Amino acid sequence: MKGIILSGGTATRLFPLTATTSKQLLPVYDRQMIFYPLNTLIKAGIRDILIIVSSEHSGQFLNLLGSILKNYGVHLFFEVQKVPKGLAEAFILGENFIGQNNVAMILGDNIFEDDFSNDIKNFKSGGKIFAKKVKDPERSGVVRFDKNNKAVEIVEKPKKWISDYAIPGFYIYDKQISEIAKKVQPSERGEIEITSLHNYYLEKKKLEVGIVKGEWLDAGTFDSLLEAGNIVKNKKLYKKFDPLINQAILEFNEELKTIARKKLL
Ligand code: G1P
Repeated sequence: MKGIILSGGTATRLFPLTATTSKQLLPVYDRQMIFYPLNTLIKAGIRDILIIVSSEHSGQFLNLLGSILKNYGVHLFFEVQKVPKGLAEAFILGENFIGQNNVAMILGDNIFEDDFSNDIKNFKSGGKIFAKKVKDPERSGVVRFDKNNKAVEIVEKPKKWISDYAIPGFYIYDKQISEIAKKVQPSERGEIEITSLHNYYLEKKKLEVGIVKGEWLDAGTFDSLLEAGNIVKNKKLYKKFDPLINQAILEFNEELKTIARKKLL
């Protein structure tokens, strides 16, 4: 299983914060946001990870992540997304990286408490997405279940209520996904939507929908960014990180301190 973190986009909702850096490099309590999706993939056992970044901030991503995991058996790859054309584009940009493997994609601003190891281990083919009951489903992709808890309809940000189950930004797909993404027609807002991919597999009856049990935060607005920091602090979510990544961050901090001291001499 390969992993992709989609960290492109201009994040206009967070201006002026995102005038100088990428949304996924903003702090969530004691570390940059990108460490959360990175942790989710690493914790699930994924070791080859492609990070898709915007061209303006690509250097900053490299400064932070370029060599932080090199001693830990995690291989990070980078790809630049020049103009964001929709979430499904990640599978087109990542086509060569995915090759003949299955792939798990996580959005760079999505923070999860759950451990997805078993979902990754047990995945065979088709697609697996997740659902979480929320108060504001109109902000997300939404899935409706029938009486037998079978997913029957998926709509991107529905204007009319269909269900309270939002679809968080963590998706598992089989190796066909790049070919399918290439055939998706842009939506009214001109994007190739991730929900079109979900619907392709739903129609083919090859889509499984799991439930997210723990916290799920999408840190894309001022309020949700602040809330994410507070929840991470109060529930000590940073302590639930894979020890590998916490160790890598500590080592990186030490390295930065050594460099800073040398500069002072
Ligand atoms: C995107 C997806 C949506 C998904 C959400 C999760 O929306 O289009 O289907 O539910 O991420 O965070 P965005 O938040 O980028 O508008």
